[in-house]
Amino acid sequence: MKPATCVGVVGLDYGDEGKGKIINLLAPHFLYNPRGGGADNAGHTSQIGAEVYKLSLIPSGVMYPNVVPVLGHMMAINPEVLLKEIDSLENRGVSTKNLVISSYATTIMEWHLLEDGARESSEGGKKIGTTKRGVGPAYKDLIGRYDAIRIEDLIDEAMLREKIKSVFPRKKEMLEKLYGVTVDLTEQGLIERYTELGRRLKPFVRKDVSYMLNRALNEGDSALVEGAQGTLLGIFSGSFPNVTSSVTTVNGLCEGTGIPRNRFTCVLGVTKGGYITRVGGGPLPTQLGTDEQLRQEEEMRKKGVGLQLTDEDFEKANAGDEYYQGKVLRLQGNEFGTRTGRPRRTGRGDLVGLNYSIMINGVDALAMMKIDVLSGLDKIKLCVGYTINGETTTAYRPGHDLEIARPVYKTLDGWGRMSRDEWRRIAKREEKLPSNAKKLVTEIEKLTNRSVVLLSVGPDRDDTIQLKDNIF
Ligand code: IMP
Repeated sequence: MKPATCVGVVGLDYGDEGKGKIINLLAPHFLYNPRGGGADNAGHTSQIGAEVYKLSLIPSGVMYPNVVPVLGHMMAINPEVLLKEIDSLENRGVSTKNLVISSYATTIMEWHLLEDGARESSEGGKKIGTTKRGVGPAYKDLIGRYDAIRIEDLIDEAMLREKIKSVFPRKKEMLEKLYGVTVDLTEQGLIERYTELGRRLKPFVRKDVSYMLNRALNEGDSALVEGAQGTLLGIFSGSFPNVTSSVTTVNGLCEGTGIPRNRFTCVLGVTKGGYITRVGGGPLPTQLGTDEQLRQEEEMRKKGVGLQLTDEDFEKANAGDEYYQGKVLRLQGNEFGTRTGRPRRTGRGDLVGLNYSIMINGVDALAMMKIDVLSGLDKIKLCVGYTINGETTTAYRPGHDLEIARPVYKTLDGWGRMSRDEWRRIAKREEKLPSNAKKLVTEIEKLTNRSVVLLSVGPDRDDTIQLKDNIF
């Protein structure tokens, strides 16, 4: 038996760490690129040369003809979104013929979208700030069991008809009576629409994904297993209730693929490390600037004002104004949702959250992303503890405690403003990393007791420095 490489890639923050770029970089060295869970709430941008691809369901490995991208058991798949993604890849010359979809994944139906939208905008309803892609309602039906339509049902015409006939009237009643939504859908229309979607997806569907992947690993083939969202957004691991509805840790990779934890030869954790971002609601103890300031910034952006950073923004940031520090990170890091365009809240690097994520995932090594985004900030503060009710702790307690946690900081020196070209030369090893950037990496390694094996210094795949040899 040849030794197989099975690498898990998990997000350690609140999503948007840059997992897509890491997968994109590593995927050509692997045969399988499965994804465990999540839905089209995730978005990853892959850039190859000048071509930018925005994917939300299909793993980035699809870009490489020899890689087999797999949508795992724990995914919630909106068939319409998946087919659009398949069509748009094909139209741009990227073949999807290797794609495999687990028959046990669940389906996001139109009524899930309506429920997500209605729940989020209902008066008095406590908002989570979801992506409104129907994720929560679809997983609710899966866990509740009665009303889920799994991919195996979608591709079986008789079963699909039966399921829609039994589930739709209940959903319609719930939407109309509970949320006052006008449901402009008919049973027959739904049956026809979803039958056609199932027919198109059927050739990709397999019942034996767990066996396929384990057999491949037994035979010495390799797998790059990707997570979606981040650990701090996980249903069990994250800051409930402002979380997504799936398991975002390495355990989700196991459940979603059937690959047991002890087959993973390396778990690579992806983090921005030097700063953090979060979209939607929920506590972010190191947040820079208030929600109201962010709302005003969004209003101005809609009017075309404040789209570029100015010297004044940097001056204010370096005079100590936290909102401007956050703005520098947001604009320099293009921290706007891939799927929704929503501006992300930005905050200082949170080592409390990071160490918790490293612990529960059993992370072996780190990929540290977007260090270039910190350029131009005189001081870089890292959160090394929280004060909660007068007590200082280094534990991340993702419930009510997080809402009142106040950060304890360690301050490092930053480095000056730098151009894209300068970072490119650094990526090509023509120039050295600024010494204070190197110190930041070393400090993060010290505080996490993990090596940073990959350091990302810009948006392109090539803007990445491998800091250690033989990383897997
Ligand atoms: P949902 O997954 O659409 O139900 O949203 C639940 C929470 O997770 C919201 O705060 C979303 O903004 C957040 N979320 C979901 N997917 C992502 C992602 O890919 N990146 C960052 N945040 C996400």
